[in-house]
Amino acid sequence: MIKEVKNNVLYVDGCSTVDLAKKYGTPLYVYSENELISRLEELKRDFTSKYENTRVAYASKAFCTAAMLKLCMEQGICTDVVSGGEIYTAMKAGFPPERVEFNGNNKQPSELELAVDYGVGRFIVDSLQELSLLESICAARGKTANVLFRITPGVRSDSHDYMVTGKKDSKFGIPLDEDVIYPQVKQAIEAPHINFMGFHFHVGSQLFDNTSHLQALDIMLDVVKNVKERFGFDVTELNLGGGFGVTYTTEERKPASYFLQPMMARIEAFFEEMGVKRPAVVIEPGRSVVAEAGMTLYTVGSIKEIRDVRKYVSVDGGMTDNIRPALYQAVYDGVVANKADEPKEEVVTVCGKCCESGDILIRDIAVARPESGDLFAVFSTGAYGFSMASNYNRNPIPAVVFVRDGKDRLVVKRQTYEDMMRNEIL
Ligand code: LLP
Repeated sequence: MIKEVKNNVLYVDGCSTVDLAKKYGTPLYVYSENELISRLEELKRDFTSKYENTRVAYASKAFCTAAMLKLCMEQGICTDVVSGGEIYTAMKAGFPPERVEFNGNNKQPSELELAVDYGVGRFIVDSLQELSLLESICAARGKTANVLFRITPGVRSDSHDYMVTGKKDSKFGIPLDEDVIYPQVKQAIEAPHINFMGFHFHVGSQLFDNTSHLQALDIMLDVVKNVKERFGFDVTELNLGGGFGVTYTTEERKPASYFLQPMMARIEAFFEEMGVKRPAVVIEPGRSVVAEAGMTLYTVGSIKEIRDVRKYVSVDGGMTDNIRPALYQAVYDGVVANKADEPKEEVVTVCGKCCESGDILIRDIAVARPESGDLFAVFSTGAYGFSMASNYNRNPIPAVVFVRDGKDRLVVKRQTYEDMMRNEIL
């Protein structure tokens, strides 16, 4: 995202934030299309073009819209989905079903049926119960599903507790106890309507250290070896999940290659030593593709100074369009976008309009003196902002605009009051 200041106004990729706010209203999610594309290109350069038989499946949960999925398609990227709704979005966007990979710890029978009927390319199966259900759905239709098992590697990654998914005590994945995993693998190999391919892990999110990925990989490769020894079975695919960290304020973003290069080196050495063809390798990044490409624009409303305590600057959105500060104590950076050249001489707390004390977007941030009517921009909101938005307090979900080289285009309309009441029986 190219941020510039012209006449005191913040511009993104050649578009004035003030003009965008006037044209589309606030709150408004703004995405740099060039940045989205360059993130996908980085993954192609450092992964799919560098190593043969590899795929990137963008984790659509981070920002699931038809516009984003179309960009992925144009760039030759696959997608990872976790619900019937995400599958439906991908299908509506025109995604080839075989390029869709289905994750989730409690896929509903109806969701599995939908996925089998569409011909979704991969099922990342999370339990034996799911395997049996999938087998029976496929049997009834005379179809075969391509299956990977999500394992719980039992490693702890360094992130917020709610973003850590690979530790042993987790609702995700199949535990690696001998008497649990291997009978399940055997059953998958033998199931007539299941094409068992290999294993998947996802250790956690917003990571800056590759240790947990490498630990999980070693554990996965050990399982691969055991499966070969016990059943003479060679896996054909491994999925290493996502989790690469991004910059919200001062974090130092690592290139994707920091995670991928050592994992690929280990995988290649392992299979060479085994004398077996290396399986396909898939990754599922979400946040690292979309986070920094997005920003949210708000209009400043009420300003309240609590003497000797703090100054609250309220904006016209909040936890309904960005739940992350309330849910994970996530920290963001921002600026008064129509005073982008002015000295940041006041420390304020930017809060939302919801009826919750926890509805704080940014605590104690130095900004140019804000006034009612100013435009406030919060940066790096592209991941898990729109996708986790809610209608709490009946606040409509904001519009989404893509900007590119000085041009803007609306990709999601702002929700209306009418939209929110659509399903109500009056
Ligand atoms: N694959 C699987 C199986 C996952 O569970 C996730 C994230 C990803 C891929 C993508 O991870 P990423 O590259 O985006 O870190 N809503 C939270 C994060 C929860 C993510 C859950 N799974 C947030 O706002 O930070």
